[in-house]
Parts: sequence; structure tokens; C-alpha cells
Amino acid sequence: MECGTVTMYRNADAHWSKFDPEAYIDGNYRTPLEVDLLIVRLVRDHFGRCFSGGVPDSVGGVDVGAGANLCPALSMLPWCEAVLLLERAPPDVAYLERQVSAEGFDPVWDAFWEELRQAPAYAAVEPRSRLAEIVRVERGHLFDLEGPRRWGIGTMFFVADSMSECPDEFERGVRCFMNALEEGAPFAAAFMKESVGYRVGAHDYPAYRVNEDRVRESLWPFTGELEIHDLHHMVRPGHEGMLLALGRRNSEIATP
Ligand SMILES: C[S@@+](CC[C@H](N)C(=O)[O-])C[C@H]1O[C@@H](n2cnc3c(N)ncnc32)[C@H](O)[C@@H]1O
Repeated sequence: MECGTVTMYRNADAHWSKFDPEAYIDGNYRTPLEVDLLIVRLVRDHFGRCFSGGVPDSVGGVDVGAGANLCPALSMLPWCEAVLLLERAPPDVAYLERQVSAEGFDPVWDAFWEELRQAPAYAAVEPRSRLAEIVRVERGHLFDLEGPRRWGIGTMFFVADSMSECPDEFERGVRCFMNALEEGAPFAAAFMKESVGYRVGAHDYPAYRVNEDRVRESLWPFTGELEIHDLHHMVRPGHEGMLLALGRRNSEIATP
């Protein structure tokens, strides 16, 4: 509970084993919001630009804290030979494993794929079979990414800011994600702006309040190319919009 000298709600304190993916989808994705479709388009176009000169052989992708959101995984499909979905909460891991099974993902994600497939690189992909073929789910902790594994493209949506109230854990979450990327890797990271926490089903989850400056400051050491979109759209009370950071990993591997 202690974070510095102040008592805060840390990552280890939250009831991740009770996280309810269907309730989370009901609150966030069941009805596609224009802001989520916009995020999907911005990420699609960013990855398309990054790979416009050609896709390197055997790109591996990672979505950190994937939870009950397939959009980041779908956005990486055309560029990757393999994609890892890393997630801490067992109910989310079980949800993701069903989504990547041979039965194919739930129709709730079709509206988002529809947005992606407007770009030619995506139109050439059959998303259900491709997802089942190349995506693997792993139960794991974001902070354990400080090992030797590296990926050539990565996403982290609403995780570093939405897993703890503690500033050190936000910083560490961003650092672990960025240090998991290879030099030059395109990335997309989304953050709730000024979130005071959120409820999923019967449980409350912590957040660390960020604004555009805070996100820029945390990402800047790891990237020479960075654009931050301030999306003025509220999905619930208790936050002030969303921030989408798009960039590429620089060559400096910052030490943890
Ligand atoms: C607000 S949800 C975001 C889910 C999804 N990425 C999205 O875009 O909607 C936060 C997610 O982070 C996961 N999470 C929390 N702590 C984590 C950790 N230490 N390592 C990996 N995932 C974690 C939670 O289980 C949950 O799925």
C-alpha cells in the first residue's frame, strides 16, 4: 500500500483475479464509440506509415495488458509473424484465449476490423484465421518485461495509467513497455486523461492521473519520434478524455 510516504492503491492491491471482461466490454466496446474507431484509424495509419518502406522479416508484436480489447492485436495483424498478448488478470487471459481459438473472435470486434480493413494492407488479411494462427496469450506481469525479450512492434492501451495510483508504478510500466521494444519499433500507447479510477462489474480499479505533458515526459527518453493525440471524449465520469501516443522506439535502450 505504501508508495513513498503516502498510502496509495498499488498494482498488487487490485482485485485483478475478479476483473470481469464481459462487464468491461459492456462499458467500453460493446457499442463502438467514435473515439475508439478514431483511435483504431490513427493506429492503423501510423503502423502503415512506419512500414511503408517494407516490412522486415519476422516481426514480433506485443500487446501489454491486453485485457478485453482485441483492437491492438487486430491492428498488428498485417505486420507480424507472431503476436503476444500479455495480461495479468486470469479472467482476461481466459477471455483472450477464447478469442484467439479456432472458433474465431466474437462479433463485437467486427466493427473495429471494418475500420482497419479500409487500408489495403489490412484488407488482404482474413482476421479470424490470422488471429488464431499467429496470436498467443500469456499470463504475465508488465514489470517482468525487464528481461531480454524484445518485440518489433508494440501496443499498450490504458494499462500503465490504469493499474495503480502510484507515480513510480506508472513510470515503471511505461519504461518496461518501451524497453521491451527493439530499436525503431513502431508503438501505440493509450492513456485515460486525468482518470481517478474506474469500476468494472462489482470492483473498483486504480488509476494514476496523467495529462499530455506527463505522458510526453514519460515516453520521451525512449523515442525520437512522438505524436500525442488529445481526444476529447468521455466514456464515463471520472476522466477527462483519452490520450493516444504514437511513435517509434529510439536506439537508446534506457536502463531500468
Ligand atoms: C483498463 S484495462 C485495459 C485493457 C485493454 N488494454 C483495453 O485497451 O481496454 C487494464 C488492463 O491491465 C491489466 N493489468 C493490470 N496490471 C497489470 C500488470 N501488472 N501486468 C499486465 N497487465 C496488467 C488488467 O488486468 C487489465 O486488463
